[in-house]
Amino acid sequence: MQRIYLDHNATTPPHPAVIDRMSAALREDFGNPSSVHHFGQVAKAALDEARSAVAGLIGADPSEVIFTSGGTESDNFAIRGVAEALDVTGRKHLITSAIEHEAVLNTLKALARRGWKTTLLPVDQSGIVSPDALAAALTDDTALVSVMHANNEIGTVQPIAELARLAKARGAVFHTDAVQTSGKVPVDVKALGVDLLSLSAHKFYGPKGVGALWVRRGLRLQAPITGGKQERSRRAGTENVAGIVGLGVAAQLARTKMGDEAARLGPLRDRLEDGILRAVTGTAVNGVRSPRVPNTTNISFERVEAESLLIALDLAGVAVSTGSACSSGTLEPSHVLKAMGFPAHRTQNSIRFSLGAANTDADVDRVIGVLPAIVDKLRSLTRTPVRA
Ligand SMILES: Cc1ncc(COP(=O)(O)O)c(C=O)c1O
Repeated sequence: MQRIYLDHNATTPPHPAVIDRMSAALREDFGNPSSVHHFGQVAKAALDEARSAVAGLIGADPSEVIFTSGGTESDNFAIRGVAEALDVTGRKHLITSAIEHEAVLNTLKALARRGWKTTLLPVDQSGIVSPDALAAALTDDTALVSVMHANNEIGTVQPIAELARLAKARGAVFHTDAVQTSGKVPVDVKALGVDLLSLSAHKFYGPKGVGALWVRRGLRLQAPITGGKQERSRRAGTENVAGIVGLGVAAQLARTKMGDEAARLGPLRDRLEDGILRAVTGTAVNGVRSPRVPNTTNISFERVEAESLLIALDLAGVAVSTGSACSSGTLEPSHVLKAMGFPAHRTQNSIRFSLGAANTDADVDRVIGVLPAIVDKLRSLTRTPVRA
């Protein structure tokens, strides 16, 4: 059976050029980039090349790019780094949105336990963070505002430039988690007006376990990982050279392909979405349809348990994801859909379809083709009538 992968927001397969260059790096660039001899300098040159490629992807200067172990570390680094650097100023208030990734939400929770005051900005069913809500939440004590560029579950793109302007007017630092936009749509740190930006290689055909934090030059940041002087003393530890090389190649490829790929994926996603809404009764899209990243749709299926639909689709060869996490047999409703104010049943009947490079029209046709019978069968197992 030919399997269809529609879970690119969870991770993407590394591009063949990424794999080739990474295996060459493992073989040939094995020196420690901190070593002064030839082998060290070869590895250092590989890091420099990757740093320039990442900087090029987001309109930044290479000296402002810090390599990390991925999106989670970059988010932690940004939030903890700013919170701790500004602690002495007395600014002990942190703001984020209720629909952030756990990497941000749980970091704020951890800081709240250590005395920081935190505010979660609410969202409505559009899935867009309102600038008015931020304006109302900002105080003279606000140290940092962190709002994601695009949401990983529903794909909505947030008005970052406007939010950053508001935060900075009150003297707060602004971080954006751009893990779901970097490499997919144009990201320019200057146009966004942010101070810090997180990205992760495995969301755009690079390897897992490597990412970057962009830090505006001159920003005060406490390094959370202490040790050697790597990354200008901001992130200690011998660099993951092969991973970083892979990130660099992925960034380079994304920069050249992004425009065409977004123009291809947007209509493909729309065709999938419209096809599902037409073919299956009791379905609705979660969040606004625009602005969204071009590869993502999140659809609710009345009277269907998302987890059962995911498994049935997997048996039919289609890999998707639920907005909810299933831990030790208990279904946790999606915190994103919950924050958007959807009723409990909708937070547990929604499926995310996230498209990518290998997906074709034929894939979309097959998914639209298999879904009605699968959904009918699941609904026949429950008794409540389908809500239109
Ligand atoms: C919005 C967002 N932020 C952060 C992360 C975490 O990134 P990583 O898997 O590189 O730690 C993810 C991954 O799903 C994400 O979607």
